Amino acid sequence: MPQKIVAGNWKMNTSLEEATQLAQSLKDNQTGQEPAKLVVCPPFVWIRTIAEILQGSGISIGAQNCASTASGAFTGEISATMLKNAGVEYVILGHSERRAMFGDSNAVILEKCKQAIVSDLKVILCCGETLAERKAGELETVLTGQLTSVFKNIDQLSASNLVIAYEPVWAIGTGLTATPEQAESAHGFIRNLINSLLGETVGNSISLLYGGSCNASNASSLFSRNNIDGGLIGGASLKSDDFLKIGNAW
Ligand code: 13P
Repeated sequence: MPQKIVAGNWKMNTSLEEATQLAQSLKDNQTGQEPAKLVVCPPFVWIRTIAEILQGSGISIGAQNCASTASGAFTGEISATMLKNAGVEYVILGHSERRAMFGDSNAVILEKCKQAIVSDLKVILCCGETLAERKAGELETVLTGQLTSVFKNIDQLSASNLVIAYEPVWAIGTGLTATPEQAESAHGFIRNLINSLLGETVGNSISLLYGGSCNASNASSLFSRNNIDGGLIGGASLKSDDFLKIGNAW
């Protein structure tokens, strides 16, 4: 069975004070008995502070991006090794906001995945179609392109350290959550795809998260579906109560 995971992508939100309060509240109010592994992905600059607050809580830290190279003259970049050094366990790669606004092509995302893997980080690899692509019947082609470019180019052992987040672009931050049927159908397609690329033993072990307007009210209807092993949560991860409810939504 894939691990259940609920990860919060804080994106470029929170002041230092808000971030520390959110982390403290998560630490104080979690039970440690949540059915899902909880992960928070703060902005880079808060990572050390949040890691110290959450130490011993069982809540893991993720980052929202990493560099595609190991080190050197890359002003403003943060390497996967630096993240590991700072206490990070997971890194979100291939988020649609980075694909759309920061030039993260499938080729760049592959290089970032390789950096994360050699630095012993777990990758939350995002995929998902735009509304235009869905309407044009291109959902499966888009997912195949985004996932094959990574999974064809890493070995099986590394692949088993990846988590996939299906995030339809039209559902992100819009309140237009995919229906449980739509999400289950896309997740079923992804499961079959990775099983065919990696074999069933590895493919069936990989967690498939849903992301896109997932919140405390709709999480359980999504998480009860086949092949939905948790969520990658944006807006609702900024409220401690909501995030913990989502972490308990089974
Ligand atoms: P929302 O939950 O705010 O729609 O964001 C989803 C997302 O992009 C998580 O990575």
